[in-house]
Amino acid sequence: EATAAFIAGMPKAELHVHLEGTLEPVQRLEFAERNGVALPQDDVAVYTDLTSFLASYYPNMTVLQTERDFFDLAFAYLTKAAGQNVRHTEMFFDPQAHTSRGIAFATVIAGYHEAVVRAERELDISAQLIMCILRDHSAESAMDTLAESLHYKHWIVGIGLDSDERDNPPSKFARVFARAREEGYLLTMHCDVDQPNSIEHIRQAIEDIGVDRIDHGTNILEDPRLVALARDRGIGLTSCPLSNAVVSDGGKAPEIVELLRAGVKITVNSDDPPYFGGYVTDNLLALAAVTDLSRDELVLLQRNAFEISWISSVDRDAHL
Ligand code: HPA
Ligand code: ZN
Repeated sequence: EATAAFIAGMPKAELHVHLEGTLEPVQRLEFAERNGVALPQDDVAVYTDLTSFLASYYPNMTVLQTERDFFDLAFAYLTKAAGQNVRHTEMFFDPQAHTSRGIAFATVIAGYHEAVVRAERELDISAQLIMCILRDHSAESAMDTLAESLHYKHWIVGIGLDSDERDNPPSKFARVFARAREEGYLLTMHCDVDQPNSIEHIRQAIEDIGVDRIDHGTNILEDPRLVALARDRGIGLTSCPLSNAVVSDGGKAPEIVELLRAGVKITVNSDDPPYFGGYVTDNLLALAAVTDLSRDELVLLQRNAFEISWISSVDRDAHL
């Protein structure tokens, strides 16, 4: 009805979407066939937490082999995003998930970058790439990946941290992120919902690493001091309601609203759309359905997203 049309029509920015997590079942089939690789697993995998999600996510990537595959994957996502009135998007990618199985870094980034260029030309959407470090790999592998990324620095806006958080705190990558900062990258880290030591990981990300944003991070409400710090420093939180609802009992909708009303720059995003049940508009609809968010607050979520985005300030002012 009216709210749905309002949400669909809002100009949006998306800041938390994993390109490898946009792989739709039909693309998985198509890429497997054209590359002559066996389908990694059954269509319908069941997952109820981060670990079981990742146990589907990585095997599915074996269908991604060529530069064309990476281009097609990213361009298909950008087409869907543009169709939902997303005007700017910052997309994570996981190079180690490909280099560790023999696909060259250059193959991955060339395909993704070409999709960014063509989308800006053909789809009226601006896009940037954020390289994620896999936190369940070693700090040495992370440093090697950072070094390799420097050849493509002009194509990458920032560095993130994702994958299995258990026993892989931000502090494990303190040197890697310090180096990334020296190289001029902006910094973000996943602090997934309801992880063991969640609040300590959030504290490390903010106070020890000095991140610009946190991905998920709604458990910050456990420490009012950190909430105030995030608000005062303008550290954004990129939340993902449908993903939260899969990996956390009850989801995080009340927490998202509370943080928004506390003045924290929180935003709504899709994470891994086919895995969690929808793109950014679907996430906003799901959140609106279970909360009393006003239209002004729905707009504020988008204003926050453009404000904490890493679009250049010149471009950003044109969107605001
Ligand atoms: N958390 C951690 N790792 C991930 C995610 C996530 O939300 N999506 C893809 N890899
Ligand atoms: Zn994520």
